[in-house]
Amino acid sequence: MIGRLNHVAIVVPELAKAAALYRDGLGARVSAPMALPAHGVTVVFVELSNTKIELLEPLGAQSPVATFLERNPAGGMHHVCYEVPDILAARDRLKAAGARVLGDGEPKIGAHDKPVLFLHPKDFCGTLIELEQA
Ligand code: CO
Repeated sequence: MIGRLNHVAIVVPELAKAAALYRDGLGARVSAPMALPAHGVTVVFVELSNTKIELLEPLGAQSPVATFLERNPAGGMHHVCYEVPDILAARDRLKAAGARVLGDGEPKIGAHDKPVLFLHPKDFCGTLIELEQA
């Protein structure tokens, strides 16, 4: 069901610093920052030849990554994103198998203007999983 690894996401305390670290320190191509109020994050993408790294900074008081940053003040790996061909079919199959979909269970439009869903980390080896319709 899952296809390519779309990205690995890392929550950071200071997005500009983290972007500079990847751009200048690691010599990677880094996109301009993009605010995603519906997701409570500001994001940049580090574009690698085989996948992307998403660097996330909390945006707004209700940011879902704020508590993560409280527990991990230096930042840390937050989720992995896998591509699926049909997000509603994937969701229904996972729910039927007992997996928990976060939020109201309806896909939201993610950073790439495509529908995304998140799956509970306790159901997947302690890793938060994002599914993106490819
Ligand atoms: Co993501």
